[in-house]
Amino acid sequence: MDKDVVKVLHVVGARPNFMKVAPIMRTMAARGGRFEQRLVHTGQHYDEAMSQVFFDELGIAPPDENLEVGSKSHAAQTADIMLRFEPVIEAYRPDWLVVVGDVNSTMAATLVASKIGVRTAHVEAGLRSFDRSMPEEINRLVTDALADLLLTPSPDADENLRREGVPDSRIRQVGNVMIDTLVANLERARTRGTPRKMGVEPRRYVYVTLHRPSNVDARESLAAIVACLLEVSRVSPVVFPVHPRTRQRLADFGQLDVLTASPGVKLVEPVGYLDSIGLVEAAACVLTDSGGLQEETTFLRVPCLTLRPNTERPITISEGSNRLTTLSTLRGDLEAALARRATGEEFPCPALWDGKASERVADALLQA
Ligand code: UD1
Repeated sequence: MDKDVVKVLHVVGARPNFMKVAPIMRTMAARGGRFEQRLVHTGQHYDEAMSQVFFDELGIAPPDENLEVGSKSHAAQTADIMLRFEPVIEAYRPDWLVVVGDVNSTMAATLVASKIGVRTAHVEAGLRSFDRSMPEEINRLVTDALADLLLTPSPDADENLRREGVPDSRIRQVGNVMIDTLVANLERARTRGTPRKMGVEPRRYVYVTLHRPSNVDARESLAAIVACLLEVSRVSPVVFPVHPRTRQRLADFGQLDVLTASPGVKLVEPVGYLDSIGLVEAAACVLTDSGGLQEETTFLRVPCLTLRPNTERPITISEGSNRLTTLSTLRGDLEAALARRATGEEFPCPALWDGKASERVADALLQA
């Protein structure tokens, strides 16, 4: 039923949350006073390059609260977010907590809200890798079990939730809010000319991002990845913005110097949103273990290789440009991806990845 003013508390914590909350907050602000909203940043990510740059580039208002939890073990980080978030949500008492994605902050905030009886809407609900060794899969399962309104990006997500016994009344397919941000900022990203500024020719380089614990936390797999990147860089330049976790592991395992010294590999600090989109769009191919890049490449029709045994975003394979790859098949998969790009093979794009998902998020909250 429609209510006069809906009070919303948004929670973000880590890099992939920021491009999701930006269009939702902007859309709600444009709804003529129908929403009153506040933003909490848990401080899970705190480096300028992992957090502030996204607020600046995407015009997100400074958070009303920053919980400053920082980096810790999963248990300590989750517990700290819960302890620090509880008084904040108690004081504001929103009609809805809105959480996005699958990071520790998403799950921790949802746990607190459900225990004090505040309804939670989860944006990007229903995604499943069916791999519980991934911390994000645990976060997705817990968040979706507790949230009252499950706002999904694609039909496979609806199916997953139904299979888990979630009634249709809690599920709304709204589409992909990340694509809203992409549509709104693509032209700005293009005009920056980031690839040339970095010294690479458009459509000639491989754009790499890797940070999953399963890829970078073990000496053996990280060494194999580095060997592979060095091999790839003989065929095509590699642009690799390095996540802090990955940089730390490269240093720990003695692999940083060899990558830095390689003329074909441009190892750079994490890049902001606009540079990243600019680099994705003009890449010959993307190699990643990120969730968001699987979606952005699908929308931009850029061949993507995902270095993981599974994906919670299977629609990027069935209706997009994504393929799973392994270290043993990477070389051949990369050649095939570069060929696909060269022939200009057309990929479809999932329905409701249309730049208007946040409008449907706002509608769903007004109607719930
Ligand atoms: C988190 C998310 C992951 C998401 C990723 C995007 C969870 C469980 N994981 O993983 O889903 O894909 O963010 O980046 O929530 N660090 C810094 N500066 C920062 C943040 C982190 O140096 O601003 C370093 C710290 O050494 C930290 C490590 O990176 O220990 C990992 O950070 P953490 O937030 O625990 O997980 P991510 O790997 O970033």
